[in-house]
Amino acid sequence: QLDPRGCPVSAAAAAFDPFEDGYQQSPPDELRWARAQEPIFYAPKLGYWVVARYDDVKAVFRDHLTFSPSIALEKITPTGEAANAVLAQYGYAMNRTLVNEDEPAHMARRRLLMEPFTPAALAHHEPLLRQLTREYVDRFIDSGRADLVDQMLWEVPLTMALHFLGVPEEDMPKLRQYSIAHTVNTWGRPSAEQQVAVAHAVGNFWQLAGEILAKMRLNPDAPGWMPFGIRMQREHPEVVTDSYLHSMMMAGIVAAHETTANATANAVKLLLQNRPAWDELCADPRLIPNAVEECLRHNGSVAAWRRLVTQDTEVGGVKLAAGSKLLIVMASANHDEAHFPDADAVDLRRDNAVEHLTFGYGAHQCMGKNLARLELQVFLDEFTRRLPHMRLAEQRFSYLPNTSFRGPEHLWVEWDPAQNPERRDP
Ligand code: HEM
Repeated sequence: QLDPRGCPVSAAAAAFDPFEDGYQQSPPDELRWARAQEPIFYAPKLGYWVVARYDDVKAVFRDHLTFSPSIALEKITPTGEAANAVLAQYGYAMNRTLVNEDEPAHMARRRLLMEPFTPAALAHHEPLLRQLTREYVDRFIDSGRADLVDQMLWEVPLTMALHFLGVPEEDMPKLRQYSIAHTVNTWGRPSAEQQVAVAHAVGNFWQLAGEILAKMRLNPDAPGWMPFGIRMQREHPEVVTDSYLHSMMMAGIVAAHETTANATANAVKLLLQNRPAWDELCADPRLIPNAVEECLRHNGSVAAWRRLVTQDTEVGGVKLAAGSKLLIVMASANHDEAHFPDADAVDLRRDNAVEHLTFGYGAHQCMGKNLARLELQVFLDEFTRRLPHMRLAEQRFSYLPNTSFRGPEHLWVEWDPAQNPERRDP
């Protein structure tokens, strides 16, 4: 096989398939060979150039003009006619939000919409977060066994996401199903039949986003980031457009929710699999903020992101023509020994853990990173205090096959309720 330059593709590059179990279970392990031998390679099964090393991934993020984010939310598997017809039937018109917007539109919009993400604004969300976290743990703490994903880690971040966005909570069960469909639609490889089912869910999600937005417009002084956007539209209609608001309503629910739900599940799983680290954290909760960064580095919830090359250029010595598509794998970059010595170890005191690329980097870096960090910190604080004796149950972890959004579908943990600290020391 040949790459787009006409050079032969190596056997390992030809075999790379991010929809298979190897990448799903561990993207950094799956790309270990690439970091060592071929840090930028063309993956024929994907039609993308894959970027695996820290410095190269960061360099791509840094230059968002040469490496445009416009394809970030494009369907990685183009849909067939039947699915396209379904999407058209729902009037599906997902377009630019922030994450996939080019300059100069992007920065103008990002600046206008930043205020609700400031630490002062985020502080208003902490009491609800604390209360929900406690209530959810109360529900299962005496049972000795729980699937943390189903019983807590999905719903609390979803409730927080809706609260942050200003979206009513009435449609929560539907939203879970819809956001999974959105992930498969954007980053997965569904079969032709699956595509049709996914298209119905995505179409419904699109329409629901439109309805929520229409209701919100009747009460634009309500709290939340989306009503804030509606108010900003009054003053700057050319920056905060109707298309932006509708697309963001849908993409924002997923961006704020699934990423964080997966991040918390990945963090708890990683720590429990590395018992000494977990025990260290339970003994010294001051380590929690850095532990959160170490978990995001080692086992983050956004494994890879995409960029489109806008002019002929070079990355890590490899020439790339305008039009090339890149899959930049942050999960691999975060395990690059050149940047993180002993990268596979979980080190809660690692002094550069915060330099992970899980939130991206540069002009588009995640706006919600501090909300996500807050959620992770509160969860770990509550778990280490109330369930320090929990352990992973025997299980095989499954993942929704896709390139980017990564977290176990279930996370079974067990403990002896008789040993609950609050029973022994009420
Ligand atoms: C952008 C990851 C949580 C809102 C991004 C990007 C990544 C990311 C990789 C693209 C960065 C780039 O292109 O350089 C994550 C992860 C999260 C998380 C791993 C949780 C652990 C959140 C939350 C919110 C949010 C909770 C909202 C409340 C956004 C927005 C952007 C973004 C609005 C677009 C920024 C721009 O393009 O200017 N996020 N995210 N994210 N994220 Fe997050």
